Amino acid sequence: MNSTEKERNPLLSRAAFGHDFHWGVSNAAFQVEGAWNENDKGPSIWDTFTQKKGNIYGGHQAKIACDFYNRYPSDLDLMSALGIPDLRFSISWPRILPKGTGKVNPKGLAFYDRLVDETLEKGITPWVTLYHWDLPQSLQEQGGWINRDIIHWFEDYAQIVVKTLGDRVKNWMVLNEPMVFTGGGYFLGIHAPGKKGLANFIPAVHHATLCQGIGGRVIREFSPGANIGTTFSCSYVEPYRDTPRDHKAARKIDALLNRLFLEPALGRGYPINDLKLLQRLERHMKPEDEELMKFDFDYIGLQNYTREKVKFSISTPILWANIVKAENRKVHFNEMGWEVYPESIYHMLHQFSAYPEVKKIIITESGTAFDDKVKNGEVHDPNRTKYIQDVLHQVWKAKQEGVPVQGYFIWTFTDNFEWAEGYRPRFGIVYNDHTTQERIIKSSGQWYSDFLKS
Ligand code: FCB
Repeated sequence: MNSTEKERNPLLSRAAFGHDFHWGVSNAAFQVEGAWNENDKGPSIWDTFTQKKGNIYGGHQAKIACDFYNRYPSDLDLMSALGIPDLRFSISWPRILPKGTGKVNPKGLAFYDRLVDETLEKGITPWVTLYHWDLPQSLQEQGGWINRDIIHWFEDYAQIVVKTLGDRVKNWMVLNEPMVFTGGGYFLGIHAPGKKGLANFIPAVHHATLCQGIGGRVIREFSPGANIGTTFSCSYVEPYRDTPRDHKAARKIDALLNRLFLEPALGRGYPINDLKLLQRLERHMKPEDEELMKFDFDYIGLQNYTREKVKFSISTPILWANIVKAENRKVHFNEMGWEVYPESIYHMLHQFSAYPEVKKIIITESGTAFDDKVKNGEVHDPNRTKYIQDVLHQVWKAKQEGVPVQGYFIWTFTDNFEWAEGYRPRFGIVYNDHTTQERIIKSSGQWYSDFLKS
């Protein structure tokens, strides 16, 4: 840490978080691996979605992405040189099962086997996500998350992965942000597979909730002693104006964004009281589902990037609530249009830890995208460093107040393929030249390294 950064945030030191706090970086298979059809990998819904004109910013595709599939050894070397102790990555389902079910692709499994071994050899602890949005295309052709059979497809896939890697991988996450992949992919149609409307969204939500619990049980059975979690996107939600109607609108959006998948996992069922439209989930419930939805997670993965201000809206039928965009609120926002608001994580840590069933929280993603530029071969991003420091200060404060937060993973290591936004937003602490694949450590990456070594 240089002296100006120290002055800005005197409390910030690694030791202040305790010796058992996990520190890492996160990525996801589709966003970094590339090798989209190498070694018998099958297509995923994201391969299909990115090929359709108009779906992705600039027509970008992820056929090569960061070429992590081939370059992981040097990326791991760089992580280890920077002193990053933990890496969170995900498994590509269609690399393991090209058709989603049935015949296993041994070359796909071998890739993750090597990745896990090399991660461990380089002194980095692997944290593995079973599902980070790249559903096999063949399963989408049978309805994907809308088809209840997914609970069997997912269980079989999870068993194959956990039986292979579970002896060495001891930190797991079942799903990445179910609210985002069901909301973006099955309600708004802005993410793969591009489906829209409540008729798609509601069954997708229920089946993802069931898979959350099912995946947890598979890991418990086949990876003895594992630390098992699943991840949730969340944003601190506040009413736009101090009126009863805006307060009510904010409660509904909070139920939708922050509680929809967490509460059933905790055994509390869906938050129907605050969001009546969720009653439609009941049509998809079978008698055994209440139990299947529950799982006693060892930790909750919290992923936070911003806050939302919400107002009553007459023009949004059913929900009667709207999010007021940051750009219309005269606040500082990032390349994604998300308000820069480090305090959000503090509120969400308190909100999640208020459930007595939540034992431990790991921040499995936190970061921001700014317009980084290379100058004389270097990238200076003091705004990202400041954001991370400010967030860490909020995390530290919540921890001091008794919130059982035990880890922090930056999203992300190298700039990568940011879903519908293509390569435009850069979230990395390492710059990636997407043409040459040259990696340049940003000043934020150097800061994180100094912080971790301090
Ligand atoms: C999260 C996703 C992750 C990345 C970040 C910026 O919602 O889990 O893959 O895109 O946002």
